[in-house]
Amino acid sequence: MGSSQAEVEVSYGVGNEFFRLWLDEKMNYTCAVWKDQEKFSESLEEAQLNKLKILSEFAHIGPHTESVLDVGCGWGANLDYQATVNKVPAVHGFTLSEEQWKNCVARDLPNTTATCQNYLHYEAPRKFDAVMSICMVEHIVTPDDARAGKAVDLYRDYFRRVHSWTKPGTYFGLQAITRCGVPRNRQDLDDMRHSTYTIFPGAVTPRVEDLIVASIPYYEVVEMKARRPHYRETTWHWRDRLRKHEKEIVQKWGKQVFVDYDRYLSTCIKSFEQNWQSLHQFSLKRLD
Ligand SMILES: C[S@@+](CC[C@H](N)C(=O)[O-])C[C@H]1O[C@@H](n2cnc3c(N)ncnc32)[C@H](O)[C@@H]1O
Repeated sequence: MGSSQAEVEVSYGVGNEFFRLWLDEKMNYTCAVWKDQEKFSESLEEAQLNKLKILSEFAHIGPHTESVLDVGCGWGANLDYQATVNKVPAVHGFTLSEEQWKNCVARDLPNTTATCQNYLHYEAPRKFDAVMSICMVEHIVTPDDARAGKAVDLYRDYFRRVHSWTKPGTYFGLQAITRCGVPRNRQDLDDMRHSTYTIFPGAVTPRVEDLIVASIPYYEVVEMKARRPHYRETTWHWRDRLRKHEKEIVQKWGKQVFVDYDRYLSTCIKSFEQNWQSLHQFSLKRLD
């Protein structure tokens, strides 16, 4: 059921220094949002802050918010934002990757805790005022689960758990890469398979309609944004930065790591251009 810890380590355990070379300075490993989607004139760093602001608004985080939970918190970029920009008095995040968790702890953020654990085993010690989850749902269903028709049940179980960790009337800011279509030629299909099985083993991107159907008993979709061009732009920046560090990456992590990540990011750029994949952000209100 979902990516195992060993599979998650394949995706995120290459090395914190490796990802630091090509992500933004706060290490968001998810789609950024540009204010102007014609020119995309802001830097990746600014666009990542825009994304965190929008999702904070989707989760209704404000001066009244006492506590925030980040499900699948990565290297802690959003924990940092909640603790230092939104100044939330109690922030907690968890990730399944030990490397990421070490990085969250090393940030030494005020009023923030982080753990390395699976959401399937998480028991909230308190009911949170707001919850956020930025591109973690892609790890809930394996390709085999999807083929066996289990996707909606697994997403529903996830929404049930998130609902149980929060107070009545609270909001959930959710972001997900979504699956829209499949390529038509062999090379593109092979490239998509490479991303699925080599870079993100055990993971599959959800269909937007499956997420909505699965959320219904627990959450109401009050706002939804499709941001496909923004993920094209984000992955273009990541590949550009990766290529600028080719020599160092090959020296430290080997030629194959560079080749695999260059292929994966090139596939992402094309898949967002061609609408094989999109990016959706949701503001979900808890149903009580
Ligand atoms: C694409 S990364 C996104 C990280 C972060 N939210 C960001 O915006 O940079 C997906 C995250 O989901 C986490 N994750 C995957 N499966 C998980 C699970 N079963 N339980 C908890 N976290 C999980 C990974 O460890 C990783 O931190």
